[in-house]
Amino acid sequence: MSIVSRKSIVQKLVRPQDYSLIMPYFVVEGKGIKNPVKSMPGVFQFSIDNLVKEVAAAKKLGIPAVIIFGIPSKKDLLATGAYAADGIVQKAIEAIKKKVKDILVITDVCLCEYTSHGHCGVVKEAAKTKTTPCSLSEFIDLKQTLKLLAETALSQARAGADMVAPSAMMHGQVKAIRAALDKSGLKHIPIMGYSVKYASAFYGPFRDAALSAPKFGDRSSYQLNPSDGDVSLKEVAADIKEDADIVMVKPALPYLDIIRRVKDKVKLPLAAYNVSGEYAMVKAAAKNGWVDEKKIVLEIMTAIHRAGAGIIISYHACDIARWRKE
Ligand code: PBG
Repeated sequence: MSIVSRKSIVQKLVRPQDYSLIMPYFVVEGKGIKNPVKSMPGVFQFSIDNLVKEVAAAKKLGIPAVIIFGIPSKKDLLATGAYAADGIVQKAIEAIKKKVKDILVITDVCLCEYTSHGHCGVVKEAAKTKTTPCSLSEFIDLKQTLKLLAETALSQARAGADMVAPSAMMHGQVKAIRAALDKSGLKHIPIMGYSVKYASAFYGPFRDAALSAPKFGDRSSYQLNPSDGDVSLKEVAADIKEDADIVMVKPALPYLDIIRRVKDKVKLPLAAYNVSGEYAMVKAAAKNGWVDEKKIVLEIMTAIHRAGAGIIISYHACDIARWRKE
């Protein structure tokens, strides 16, 4: 019997000379649901029964991993749906694990889909009415946010997730999650850090899909300034120090320079997130007959891989896997 370790799980995503793909999915409460996401043609919100079928199909295509985003039926100030034992993501993982073998189930660890205001952490009361931009410490209650992020990751791992991926851009999130997992007998669960996450307009369609657009302010106090390239190396170094197993750059295509800079510095596997806005632009142009979808998607993936990403998270993943088989 093989021993499951952080390394052996990460190894399933490493494909020498090529890139491996992670397919993202959105899951909602209910039955028989397949809601199209308007700004992302070909992407749907699935209820758990349909999601299980999709993941089984992805596995058949040779996709090694999926990442799950949950849309809860209720949101509140403390994001309780994110870490509830019967939360939407927790139930989805259990259902997938029961039916589909040999595909990694990765979870996004963030609060924005679960908070009533749509921010990625617990917002300080005084910050809610402020009209001028806030610093992170003025805006977010970091201590409580880290506690809730760790609780979220823990509940997802307990439900059967193979890997957790914190995306809230809160200082110390990898460390807090690592400590919580280690303390709870989940030392073998690796962490993929969304280490370098810029404050980007390219996330627009995702926020439609996940119903997570902030109700006030923006994410600039915790996501990175697009004009600052050097900050990427500091963020990656911090995540590695906190013991991340995989580091990520996000978005991908407008940040190829950042992917390359990180790749040149870091030995850990490097992922890039080809985000919703990148996807939406290609789909819109292809629908109009202005570009050749297959050719342009494969060229974009080649560019992201050439820049240095060995793992690519993309809504095109299943299409690419299908094309690889043609
Ligand atoms: C959660 C999260 C977001 C994305 C991944 N995880 C949204 C955000 O930060 O606003 C975006 C992915 C995409 O645009 O495809 N924080």
